[in-house]
Amino acid sequence: MSKKLVLAYSGGLDTSVAIEWLKIHKGYEVIACAMDVGQAAEGEMERIRQRALDCGASDAVIFDARAEFADQFVAACIRANGKYMGKYPLVSALSRPLIVKHLVEVAKAHGADAIAHGCTGKGNDQVRFDVAAMALAPHLTVEAPIREWGLTRDAALDFAAEHGIPVVAKKENPYSIDENLWGRAAECGALEDPWVAPPSDIYAMTTHPVDAPDTPEEVELTFAGGIPVALDGQVMDLFSIIATLNTRAGAHGIGRLDMVEDRLVGIKSREVYEFPAAAVIMAAHEELENLTVETELAVGMKDASAVWAKLVYNGLWYGPYKQALDAFFMQANTSIEGDVRLSMYKGTVAPTGRRSEKSLYQRGLATYDASDEFDHSMALGFVKLWGLPTKVWAETNGDQ
Ligand code: ARG
Repeated sequence: MSKKLVLAYSGGLDTSVAIEWLKIHKGYEVIACAMDVGQAAEGEMERIRQRALDCGASDAVIFDARAEFADQFVAACIRANGKYMGKYPLVSALSRPLIVKHLVEVAKAHGADAIAHGCTGKGNDQVRFDVAAMALAPHLTVEAPIREWGLTRDAALDFAAEHGIPVVAKKENPYSIDENLWGRAAECGALEDPWVAPPSDIYAMTTHPVDAPDTPEEVELTFAGGIPVALDGQVMDLFSIIATLNTRAGAHGIGRLDMVEDRLVGIKSREVYEFPAAAVIMAAHEELENLTVETELAVGMKDASAVWAKLVYNGLWYGPYKQALDAFFMQANTSIEGDVRLSMYKGTVAPTGRRSEKSLYQRGLATYDASDEFDHSMALGFVKLWGLPTKVWAETNGDQ
């Protein structure tokens, strides 16, 4: 009886030829598993399922994982304000642990011995797949045919022709693209020269800010427990809020990012991202955080945010440190509720109003008018004590 393997199947050239390669070179019976995390067009998942069977898979399963992706993975990122290197909202890094979770479930259901992914040996995604698998199913073997095979595009096409694999001969996309509900990542091609400006054909979710509408558009987001629950006063699930905002904010050219980033495997790479909804939601979340979170906790959240993002980027989603930080952020987000109004205009999103039942803003303390309730006499002693170390230092070292 042949060994069974569950392959994370995208429908693209690499994972299509990987099916046959795993059968021939590793002796597996291959079950393909494809997931919609918000990247698939209408009807595309069914076509992908059929393609997997046409390419030699013994079985093919597809999942609509969009709501789960939004509610379990993106939601955690929103609560943590997760941005790698302070900028990249972890688009690809969030989907990998979800994909592995489903691969492992399918592997268990089919009594499979292994799972497989189509990552190369140069990126972060291989780490995320392999380490998530180590956490969720240490008994399973993880195969990485593309990494092991060192596959080039031409070799893949030759292999397909040789073995009669019906790959769709699409016009070559010069970029390597990964996309989901939370955004889109592009690398390779012209981008490999970090001095070259991103070609306009690289963008798919956003309009160039120059071509965006000449009038600003307002949007109002309502949060509960740190998560958006309504858009312009209309209660919606998180997936729908993100999908709607991708369209609206994308039309204003919001959420483009061109950066050089540090991969875990030691390589600096140039990446171009688009994440219209993420840019709006995270700006709004940070705004409510400023309004409702006590000052020391706010500092702690910023520190923990950078750690959380790095752990997730580096593939440790299911590790204990990241899970403990999730618990911290869950608690820290309990006050993050209320409304934020933002203005979207030519590539920028700016909060213009915020309100909350949990607001720590007290007008009586902040005002400069006659209704001032702040006790000015308290400031005198406070400032003297606060400045005391500086005064002592200056008295001792002042003439140096
Ligand atoms: N560099 C990003 C990350 O590590 C995006 C990787 C996306 N993969 C791709 N094939 N473009 O999260």
